[in-house]
Amino acid sequence: MDTVVISIGGSILVPDDDDKDYIVKLASMLNRLKDDTRIFIVVGGGRIARYYIKLGRSLGADESYLDDVGIEVTRLNARMLIVALGNSAYHVPAITFDEALSAAKNHSIVIMGGTHPGHTTDAVAAMLGERAGAIRLINATSVDGVYTADPKKDPTAKKLDNISFDQLLEICMKVAPGAGPNVVFDPLGAKIVARSGIETRVVHGRNLAELEKAILGQEFRGTIVSRA
Ligand code: UTP
Repeated sequence: MDTVVISIGGSILVPDDDDKDYIVKLASMLNRLKDDTRIFIVVGGGRIARYYIKLGRSLGADESYLDDVGIEVTRLNARMLIVALGNSAYHVPAITFDEALSAAKNHSIVIMGGTHPGHTTDAVAAMLGERAGAIRLINATSVDGVYTADPKKDPTAKKLDNISFDQLLEICMKVAPGAGPNVVFDPLGAKIVARSGIETRVVHGRNLAELEKAILGQEFRGTIVSRA
C-alpha cells in the first residue's frame, strides 16, 4: 500500500473561516482514501501559533521557547482533525516519529504536530516521509502552487507547474529567521525531500478536489517538485 504524508497548514485547517465545514469534508475525504493509501498528516500552527509567538516575543521569550509555543499549538490543531476523523485515526497527535510509525500499525491515519524547535511542520512532514517510506508528500497550503514571487504581494508572479528540488531549495532559502516564518515550504524540509527524492506536491489545501487528486498522484492544479 502506498504511503503519503500530508503537511497541512494551520492557516488551512483553522483560519476561522467555516473551519467546521472544511474539517468535516476533509475528514470524510481522508476516510474514503484510507483503505488504499496509508496516510500520515502533519498539522501546522497557523494564526493561533503566530499570535502566541508574537505575544511571547513581545514579553521577552527567546526564539526556541517561542518555537515550543508554536509546537504546542500545532498539536492542539492536530487534535481537531483527529476528533473529526473518528476511529480511523490514532487518538492523539504522535509526539515522535517512532510513535507515529508504531501507531500506523493499527491505524489507517496518524496525525502529528511539530517535534523540535528550529524548523516548521513542513520539515516534520519531510522527515516523517523519509521514515515512513512515503511515495509523495503533499503540502496543503494557502497558495495553489509555487510561484516565481509571492503572488499575494507581486501581481506579476507566475505559477510554476514543475520544478526541481534545487529550485525549491533556492525559493525556500529566501526566508527571514526566527519563530513563525511563512513561506511556501520549510528550507530544512526542502533539503530532506531532495536527499530522499520524495516527490512533493504543493496544492491549495482548501481546494479539496485538487487536494484529493494530488494525494492520489493524479493530475492536479498545483506544483510538482521532483528530480529534474
Ligand atoms: P508551522 O509549521 O505551522 O509553521 O509551525 P508556519 O510556517 O509558521 O505556519 P503555517 O504553515 O502557516 O501553518 C508554527 C511554528 O511552530 C514552531 C515554529 O516556530 C513555527 O513557525 N515549530 C513548529 C517548531 O519549532 N518545530 C516544529 O517541529 C514545528
